[in-house]
Amino acid sequence: MKNPRSFIRPLVHELHAYVPGEQPKIKGLIKLNTNENPYPPSPHALKAVKAAVDGRLRLYPNPTAQLLREKLAKLHGCKADNIIIGNGSDELLAMAVRAFVEPRLGGGRRKAEGRGQRSKSVVQYFHPSYSLYPVLADIHEAAKNAVPLNANFSLPGVPKLKRGALWDFNAALTFITTPNAPGGRGYSTGELEKLCRAMNGVVVLDEAYVDFAGENAMKLALKFPHVIASRTFSKAYSLCFQRVGYFVGHAELIAALDKIRDSYNVNGLGQVAALATLEDLPYYRANFRKIVSTREELSRALTRLGFRVLPSETNFILAQPPIFEAKDWLQKLREKKILVRWFNQPEIKDFLRITIGTPREAEALVRAVKEILL
Ligand SMILES: Cc1ncc(COP(=O)(O)O)c(C=O)c1O
Repeated sequence: MKNPRSFIRPLVHELHAYVPGEQPKIKGLIKLNTNENPYPPSPHALKAVKAAVDGRLRLYPNPTAQLLREKLAKLHGCKADNIIIGNGSDELLAMAVRAFVEPRLGGGRRKAEGRGQRSKSVVQYFHPSYSLYPVLADIHEAAKNAVPLNANFSLPGVPKLKRGALWDFNAALTFITTPNAPGGRGYSTGELEKLCRAMNGVVVLDEAYVDFAGENAMKLALKFPHVIASRTFSKAYSLCFQRVGYFVGHAELIAALDKIRDSYNVNGLGQVAALATLEDLPYYRANFRKIVSTREELSRALTRLGFRVLPSETNFILAQPPIFEAKDWLQKLREKKILVRWFNQPEIKDFLRITIGTPREAEALVRAVKEILL
C-alpha cells in the first residue's frame, strides 16, 4: 500500500494553515467573531443577484470582471488597467506573494545568501496584523519578516525602523494593514506615505476596513508605482458570501498579477452583486455611519464596565476585559450565546476582538457582560 503522506511536500506537512473564525452550526448565537457586517446587502444588490439566477449560470463569467473594473476605475479616478478583481482580497494577497517574491533557494537552507538576495524573498509585515500574511509566505517558501508595532499598536516611524534594524527597506513585498487588524488603530496617510517613500519593494496597503476609518490611502496607490491598495466588498459592503476584492495599483504591477490569475477567478454572481453595490453607495455609507456610532457607544459602555478598549477605526474593537482572563471571557460569553474572537498570541492574548453588530446586539453584549461581572 502506498502511503498518501509520502506524496505531500514536506513544506505542506509542516504548514500551519490560516485559522478562520468559527462559523457556528448552532442557531441563535450573536455572531461578533468574524468582522462581518450586521446589515444585509442593499435591496438593489439583492434584487440584481436574484435576477441573475437563471439559465446564464451555464456560461462562464467575464474573465476579468471588466464592467466592475471600469466602474471601480471611475470611482477611484484611475483606469481599468489599474485594477484587478479577486475572489476576495485574500486571493489577491496570495497572488501578490507569487508575483513579487522569489521563493527561497534550497528551502531557505542556503547559508551563503547575501542580504540583497534575501530581501527578494522577504514577505514583511507588522506584528500583530492580519494572520494570513505569514501563512501566504510559508506556502510560497518565502522568508518572513514580522516587525513589532509600537506597544499601543501605532506604526513605528521610519527613523525608528531604521534604528531598530529589523525592518527590511528592500523587502520584496510589505503588507501594511491599515486600519490595523486586530488592533483596530487607523494610520494617517501622511505616516503611510513616509513609509512608502522609504521602501524599495512592493507595498500592499491592506485597506479591508478602511470604510470605517477617517482616512484612506488610495492616493498613494495612484501616486507611487510600487504601492498597491487592497480593498474588499466583504466588510463594508456586506458581501463576504460572494467573495469579491480588488487591488488598485500601477498598470504594470496589475498586468503582472493578471498573468497569474485563474482564468475565471471571480464568480458571475459576485460580479453582479459588486456592480449593483456600487450603484447603491448611499445605502452602504448610511450603514458605515451606524456601525461607527455603535462602535463608539459600545466602547464607552465597555469602558464603564472596566474594559480597556483600544481606539478603533474599523468595524471591530480590541478590548482587554477585567477580572477574568480574556480566554475565559470567550467561554463565558459563548455560554450566553455571544461569539467573539480570542487570539492565542502573546501581544493580544489579554484582549477580545469584538465585531460591531447592530445596536441590539451591542446591548445584548453589554447585558451579558454585566451578568458575568455580577
Ligand atoms: C486585514 C484583512 N485583509 C483582508 C481580508 C480578507 O478579506 P476578503 O473577504 O476580501 O478575502 C481580511 C478578512 O478578514 C482582513 O481582516
